[in-house]
Amino acid sequence: MIQRIASGVKGLDDLLQGGIPSQTLLLVTGPPGSGKSTLSTEIAGNILKRGGGVVYAITSDTPNGVRNKLRIRGYEPPEPESLKIVDCFSWRYGKPGENGIRNLTDLNGLSLRIKEGLAALKDKKEVLLVIDSLSDFLMYSEKNSVYKALQIISGEVKRKQGRFGLVVLEEGMHTSDVLNTVSYIMDGVIQMKMEGTKRLLRITKMVETNHPLNWIEYEIKGGVEIICVREFFK
Ligand SMILES: Nc1ncnc2c1ncn2[C@@H]1O[C@H](COP(=O)(O)OP(=O)(O)O)[C@@H](O)[C@H]1O
Ligand SMILES: [Mg+2]
Repeated sequence: MIQRIASGVKGLDDLLQGGIPSQTLLLVTGPPGSGKSTLSTEIAGNILKRGGGVVYAITSDTPNGVRNKLRIRGYEPPEPESLKIVDCFSWRYGKPGENGIRNLTDLNGLSLRIKEGLAALKDKKEVLLVIDSLSDFLMYSEKNSVYKALQIISGEVKRKQGRFGLVVLEEGMHTSDVLNTVSYIMDGVIQMKMEGTKRLLRITKMVETNHPLNWIEYEIKGGVEIICVREFFK
């Protein structure tokens, strides 16, 4: 039977027959503000709290920003044993960190840092990779190079039981061929959106999982959890 890793996000694991299938890379897409980064940080915090490891590739925040967001969620990361931040931000001030990449065209650097991070966490039972966000790489690099890098990264995630990944992509920034190609490379897709005052998510693809296709309402409460509730669970 396929191993599933609980995201710890209320409601989400029930939609996924218990959790996210191990050795998969998932796309989290939706317009800016829909909650993709909040969801990713939340799942990362939950994995770290359970003693797992996280490789966090971040383009939109400093490593300290990531640590602070995890801290707000009640998690003090015992670095470097559990949390490997791949700094894809500090190049902006010409100071790529030791675990960072040169700039957003440095896709080899990205794959390599991710590979090193995953290897360093090899003794952890559960390891999450977050890439937030792929859209920044697509702004700077030729799209076919980004797809190739994703294929390599996907291979790394699939190499070992207990690994899984979340790749964030901004909706509305890319043409439909980009969204479709990235979705094709991924093993699962979670789509998020806002409609009036409501927030809705749906799973449009998930390997080995009998999941509903409905849009399901969720809330972001104090930035600490996304609660999938309402009609589906009534
Ligand atoms: N602490 C909080 N309490 C309530 N809502 C929050 C909190 N933090 C963020 N949000 C809401 O979540 C939204 C989504 O944020 P974010 O996860 O950064 O979206 P995305 O990554 O999809 O652009 C914010 O625009 C805000 O409306
Ligand atoms: Mg974001």
